[in-house]
Amino acid sequence: MTAIGETPALPLNLHEYEAAARELLSPMALGYVSGGSCDEVTLRANRAAFDRWRLLPRVMRGLRETSTATTVLGQDVSLPVLIAPSGLHRLAHDEGELATIRGAHGACTIHTLSTASTVPMDIIGQEGPPWWFQLYVFSDRGISRDLVEQAAAAGASALVVTVDVPLLGRREADERNRFSLPDGLVMANLQTPKHMLIPATEGGSGLRTYIGAAWEPALTWDDLDWLASLSPLPVIPKGILHPDDAVRAFDHGARAVIVSNHGGRQLDSAVASLDALPAVADAVAGRGEVLLDGGIRRGTDVLKALALGARAVLIGRPVYWGLAVGGEDGVRHILELLRAELALDLMLCGLASPAEVTRELLVRADTPVTR
Ligand SMILES: Cc1cc2nc3c(=O)[nH]c(=O)nc-3n(C[C@H](O)[C@H](O)[C@H](O)COP(=O)(O)O)c2cc1C
Repeated sequence: MTAIGETPALPLNLHEYEAAARELLSPMALGYVSGGSCDEVTLRANRAAFDRWRLLPRVMRGLRETSTATTVLGQDVSLPVLIAPSGLHRLAHDEGELATIRGAHGACTIHTLSTASTVPMDIIGQEGPPWWFQLYVFSDRGISRDLVEQAAAAGASALVVTVDVPLLGRREADERNRFSLPDGLVMANLQTPKHMLIPATEGGSGLRTYIGAAWEPALTWDDLDWLASLSPLPVIPKGILHPDDAVRAFDHGARAVIVSNHGGRQLDSAVASLDALPAVADAVAGRGEVLLDGGIRRGTDVLKALALGARAVLIGRPVYWGLAVGGEDGVRHILELLRAELALDLMLCGLASPAEVTRELLVRADTPVTR
């Protein structure tokens, strides 16, 4: 326990952030943030996949320091970790997505603002670049077009299009808690009460009812062409797991893809995103950048994803933990923890920067090293 006047110790790592946030979030917010779909097989698989790889470090390389800096779609970032799009940040902190982008900018990286943001994007735009906008495509195509145009006008520098939510996965925590958006919170980028609010429904999750009524379930690759034609923003489909889908994405003008299973919140028993990554990276064969999210909690997780072909990774749940514990400072701190871990891990591997990470860094955990 912290004595009066004493500053509480900051969490040492992302796991401690999670433990602290669990004490602070309301039961409904906690269920929304932590939950996966159904039996959470994929949620657990996302973490377990990292444990199946070990690192094979090199020594005596005369390194005195390392740099974690890189670029993503030509944009400078101080570490290969971006903020994944995630909705309703004001459930975790009053300042919501404004605190998130300030934290991201404090750590010199990119925030991806969700369609389901609780802060309007013109306010986010006033923080300056870089930030990306994530689109959920509405059945009413006019709404989708307006959102893309608003994002381009507000200064977003890429359009992430989420493609793995034809319907919402069965998130039982939200069903149990009868998830609804608390009074005073709205989805601030939408214009009508019908689209801004997530009311409680008779039993079950209000979010599921909302999405079933408003979002387009029947997307096709032609829609990607249409979305790309609406603005000059580079388009990045998110939620790709199959290598052939990654190839199709680039055939339809994508500039990058995000390998993701939505943090285990959509199809339960879907493959872990790290396990999907190598085949996607091979199939894409340098036509564009491959990004990954799902289960990133340590610097070594970042290293493993880079070694398997990711240009950078994104984090989802840890952002809410940072917000709950410390708002903008909490978000910046979780990114700084990851940066410090990655800098140390690079040094211990004998590598000077993310650009030097290759597949040779990895060995399967149950396989002896061969020459
Ligand atoms: C609470 C929560 C809300 C999310 N909201 C969105 C969203 O609005 N748009 C989207 O594309 N993905 C959303 N995601 C998925 C994340 O972008 C990302 O794929 C996932 O969280 C990565 O896994 P991680 O939480 O293990 O880091 C959400 C995830 C969480 C946990």
